[in-house]
Amino acid sequence: MELRFNSKSVLITGGASGMGAATAQLFVESGARVFIADRNAELARATASRLGATAIAGDVGDSAFCNSVVAHVVDTHGSLDCLVNAAGIIIRATGLDTTDEDWMRTLNVNVSGVFYMCRAAIRHMKHQGAGAIVNFGSIWGELSGKGALAYAASKGAVHQITRTFAIEHARDGVRVNGVCPGEVDTPMLRSAGRSVPLTDEQAAEMGARVVPMGRLAQPHEIGRMVLFLCSDHASYITGAMHYVDAGYSAQ
Ligand SMILES: NC(=O)c1ccc[n+]([C@@H]2O[C@H](COP(=O)([O-])OP(=O)(O)OC[C@H]3O[C@@H](n4cnc5c(N)ncnc54)[C@H](O)[C@@H]3O)[C@@H](O)[C@H]2O)c1
Repeated sequence: MELRFNSKSVLITGGASGMGAATAQLFVESGARVFIADRNAELARATASRLGATAIAGDVGDSAFCNSVVAHVVDTHGSLDCLVNAAGIIIRATGLDTTDEDWMRTLNVNVSGVFYMCRAAIRHMKHQGAGAIVNFGSIWGELSGKGALAYAASKGAVHQITRTFAIEHARDGVRVNGVCPGEVDTPMLRSAGRSVPLTDEQAAEMGARVVPMGRLAQPHEIGRMVLFLCSDHASYITGAMHYVDAGYSAQ
């Protein structure tokens, strides 16, 4: 099944790194015009220039930025066809060790960022009569575990934002879905909350220990699901969270 996005525009938050960047690459290879919105301006520029995409620097926790980035895509391309919300942060701390600042920062990026971007995009997509959105949730939006309370809470909220927008706009031609990755080999997994990033050996050992398939995912393995959900092959799919986790959540 070949997925083509010729003449479609795709806006990817967090597209400078990890799964956002891998998804951006797959979209470019499928013929889409890709816009990367990321807080890390330098990395966004480097990734966009490597892939043949356009970089827009900014913070998704700022609703004015979210409105302006959607307007920019519509002004330059004529439409916004697909939105992928991959921007996210994780703070590894138990509930008792989570500071007010960490809590607010996590909710601002992971929850408000997804809400602001969806709201801005759907306002346009509804008018257009078509559009597809994929939000990055997580296995930790449904399961739980020790040591990342704010992150788990934020991803649970992303799942509910996804379902609610999907229902509210199911008759407007706008589909809203989510992907829930398991353990994926990205800069976030390797470095967040660690003073020294995991080595290749440590990452492989982690995959062998905790994932039913015995390995971490590569970012493009999640990106493929995002492309499918944005494509016409997924025309009857909305309001659903799709687990791409090698069986992790089935345990
Ligand atoms: N890596 C995993 O194992 C894993 C598992 C489940 C879900 N996720 C989720 O997948 C998504 C992508 O994660 P990743 O592992 O590729 O992470 P990553 O750290 O490699 O990339 C995240 C990107 O988001 C950008 N970003 C962060 N805050 C931002 C903000 N306020 N505004 C704009 N851009 C911002 C960063 O600059 C970075 O480029 C995240 O939402 C993450 O929570 C990751």
